[in-house]
Amino acid sequence: MEQYYVYIMASYRGTLYVGVTDDLTRRVYEHRQKLVQGFTTKYNISKLVYFEVTADVASAISREKEIKGWRRSKKATLIDSLNPYWVDLVERWNDPSTTPDPSPRPGAQGDRKEIKEPQTIYALRFSPMTLINKQAYEDFIAELPSVVIEGKRIKLLGYRRPRRLQPDDFRTETTTLWSFPKRGNWATHKASYRGNWAPQIARNIILRYSQPGDTVLDQMAGGGTTLVECRLTGRNAIGVDVNRDALMLAFDRLNFPVVSQPNLSGSLTEQLPESRITLYHGDARNLDAIQDASIDLIATHPPYANIIRYSQEAPVDGDLSKVRSIAEFVAQMRLVAGECYRVLKPDRYCAILMGDTRRSRHYTPIAFRVMQAFLDAGFLLKEDIIKAQWNTQTEGLWANLSRGKNFLLIMHEHLFVFRKPAQDEDTRPYRESMSWR
Ligand SMILES: C[S@@+](CC[C@H](N)C(=O)[O-])C[C@H]1O[C@@H](n2cnc3c(N)ncnc32)[C@H](O)[C@@H]1O
Repeated sequence: MEQYYVYIMASYRGTLYVGVTDDLTRRVYEHRQKLVQGFTTKYNISKLVYFEVTADVASAISREKEIKGWRRSKKATLIDSLNPYWVDLVERWNDPSTTPDPSPRPGAQGDRKEIKEPQTIYALRFSPMTLINKQAYEDFIAELPSVVIEGKRIKLLGYRRPRRLQPDDFRTETTTLWSFPKRGNWATHKASYRGNWAPQIARNIILRYSQPGDTVLDQMAGGGTTLVECRLTGRNAIGVDVNRDALMLAFDRLNFPVVSQPNLSGSLTEQLPESRITLYHGDARNLDAIQDASIDLIATHPPYANIIRYSQEAPVDGDLSKVRSIAEFVAQMRLVAGECYRVLKPDRYCAILMGDTRRSRHYTPIAFRVMQAFLDAGFLLKEDIIKAQWNTQTEGLWANLSRGKNFLLIMHEHLFVFRKPAQDEDTRPYRESMSWR
């Protein structure tokens, strides 16, 4: 698959150059060897300080144009967001202690051999994925039977047999408006993890876009709602979260038997289908333990910038809920989108729930900007589902403020469903559902 890179290079005095290429290794080599006449040669621009990857050439070109049009301070903020010390990323490719794959790029010639595949940077910028096994959870719960997330203590309950494993009255949604006034509480589902999505959302996505035996990824798994739904519906799942305490809670929510409670006559009422659930401590921007094109469905629910700060008590490296700047948050979500695109099988779906906020009494869209980042990564927009929010306080103080200060209370989120085009698919029929930038 072709990949296009928008990159920023800097001189040691801080002059910046923005470019686009389909071969970052070669391009950087050319700049460094002064094989490209012009700006970079004149100003001694030789350090690679930032890059983004996309599968779509048009979005790469328009992104280059966009960044080129920014003031220097804005470009610097973008670089800072990923590479705060402006280290030369090429030096890291050549560091054998941090470069996992030392093989030269196919077709490399002469001096180019010393520059390795840019993909290896992923593993250097963010922590690598680490498998969390059941023993780690057993040890944790033996010592500390609770976690604190966003100031709220949540008790871990250990092994238990839920009263009922499946919902009584579930029906699959058929429109683009989803509203669940009562959050599902079957199996081990609970609302206690701040901002977790309703099991009805996860179940709808899983049933519509995957088959039993498929592998579903939730790389911002939180308290494990998606993972529990995968177990209940016979899907394999990979759960990742940057916050280890969230993973302990997810393990706890998965700690139930695969047979439901015997009924009054003593016979088993239900045996769940087989499913394998694997949990990793890691960063959604670097899914290094997951192979390219290996996932059947992505169903995930990132933070909405810093609206809920998941790691308020103990700082967690890489937690995107610490990012207040919307521009920076979206820049990080571009990396998440790139990884989603890489790991998903062609012609499969990626569902992501995003909300917006309000600052200075004006509407601040986050969801549409994140949607753009996913389209720029090469996805097609299959659905934009409006999900009604039922936890908004619509009476009393907030209702009075809404009237008195002239602003409306936000009561919806966007559930975007993206499709990765099939191999060699002619995407022209969907051009109005693709990146327009
Ligand atoms: C909205 S919550 C997910 C809740 C989940 N859907 C549930 O039902 O429990 C967002 C999660 O993203 C995690 N997160 C934040 N930054 C992350 C990153 N860079 N990589 C992986 N997870 C991250 C947070 O720790 C939090 O658990």
